[in-house]
Amino acid sequence: MAVALIVAAGRGERLGSDGPKALVALGGRPMLEWSVDALRLVAGVETIVVALPASALDAAPPGTIAVAGGAVRSESVRAALRACGAGDPVVVHDAARPLAPASLFERALARLEQSGADAVIAAAPVSDTIKEVGADGRTVARTLDRARLWAVQTPQVFRRDVLERALFDAGEEALSAATDDAWLVEQTGGVVEVVEAPAANIKVTTPTDLRLAELLLSERRPGEGLVGEARA
Ligand code: CTP
Ligand code: MG
Repeated sequence: MAVALIVAAGRGERLGSDGPKALVALGGRPMLEWSVDALRLVAGVETIVVALPASALDAAPPGTIAVAGGAVRSESVRAALRACGAGDPVVVHDAARPLAPASLFERALARLEQSGADAVIAAAPVSDTIKEVGADGRTVARTLDRARLWAVQTPQVFRRDVLERALFDAGEEALSAATDDAWLVEQTGGVVEVVEAPAANIKVTTPTDLRLAELLLSERRPGEGLVGEARA
């Protein structure tokens, strides 16, 4: 059976909210609860651990395991992994992506099972042309081949031994630099595959993102995932 770790211990500085971003109201309830609800629908997920700020552990929804997060995201993932008990594979998800539908978790888990990959990560093909600038921070050095670029999101699902090795063997520097866990797996030579996420799996970072998330939620009908992704 799988275990799911939701990281919700960030401060939400860019959102500018009073309390932790994961507890900001979205569709009339704390943002965190949307991810917990989606994960409860996923067959095979037995345990849900939520990493929260130490001062907000009582905000963990009933039936989840609360754990205090760390100073950086990877430390929060590590704390949640230590607290989750047995279970393999491991699903890691950001509370800041409250609109991830159950079907996305299911597709990532199914792909991990079918493939020989060490990890499968939700991602979206990049629609902008991406250019790299040189050391002056201004002059274009080259244009990247967009056809092969994916913007990486969560959920990310991992074979447990691979994630444990990546997180527990990483030095403090790598842990602080990691914006996603799959990067740590890549550093150890692991094979990571992408699975395409629906366009609405946005990350709530700024107040504009929160308004967009409200709009997308208001268009979601009961029993459905995100707009354009009805559940079978
Ligand atoms: N996160 C965490 N522990 C941290 C930092 C981040 O659990 N020490 C979580 C956040 O709660 C969020 C996810 O990691 O669900 C992605 O982080 P981000 O979007 O950067 O959220 P915040 O760190 O809260 O926002 P900001 O960077 O604007 O302060
Ligand atoms: Mg952050």
